[in-house]
Amino acid sequence: MAAGRFITFEGTDGSGKSTQARLLSEHLRGEGRDVVLTREPGGSPGAAEIRALLLEGPPDRWSPEAEILLFTAARRDHLEKTIEPAIRAGKIVICDRFADSTRTYQGVRREGLRAVVDSLHERMIGREPDLTFIIDTEPDTGLARALSRRTAERRFEAFGQEMQARIRAEFLALAQEHPHRCVVIDGDRDIDAVARDIARVAGERLT
Ligand code: ADP
Ligand code: TYD
Repeated sequence: MAAGRFITFEGTDGSGKSTQARLLSEHLRGEGRDVVLTREPGGSPGAAEIRALLLEGPPDRWSPEAEILLFTAARRDHLEKTIEPAIRAGKIVICDRFADSTRTYQGVRREGLRAVVDSLHERMIGREPDLTFIIDTEPDTGLARALSRRTAERRFEAFGQEMQARIRAEFLALAQEHPHRCVVIDGDRDIDAVARDIARVAGERLT
């Protein structure tokens, strides 16, 4: 049996992660590979319940510390119920957001929180993806795309453009910290051009 793989998509809101995760999964299925497409927060019934708590309601609903715990609780359930069983079965797991989102979104909220995120991750999650695509877009492109969606899940988009710019910079810093697994993709192009780049890199890494 082929070894399972774990691929994540990261980036700011509206950068195109969900679109590209879906296109990569279709591309790999077309090559006959067994793919599980999933997302965070969510990806298991328990984590989906936590998702609603996190993404709906006013921006100040949770402190950054409470958010870190909720995202990590959701991730732990997702890992136990969905991600690890699929990887053990030799499948390719493609996940729309994972721990890098907690490092960036919650880690930048206050001095010292990134260290909290990292230590909790080490104790409770302890797994990194084999490959992470960071889709990089100008903050206003992504935010405009995200806000054009009709959804009640607005808590994080309500933080505005300045926060998106900080998070973008944080993702680019993470890519430099972890060059072996992170690949930055220019997301300010049409969907097919972005998808072609991603399929090429995935093809090189999955052989
Ligand atoms: P994310 O998952 O990063 O929030 P989505 O994939 O949901 O982003 O895309 C947000 C919106 O922008 C969707 O309506 C999608 O169709 C559109 N979109 C995604 N990628 C592009 C692109 N490269 N160019 C133009 N529109 C895009
Ligand atoms: P998502 O549904 O991927 O939103 P989008 O499609 O707009 O990118 O994620 C919802 C929000 O949750 C998003 O604004 C980022 C935030 N988030 C965190 O703050 N920390 C996390 O660990 C995760 C997984 C998401």
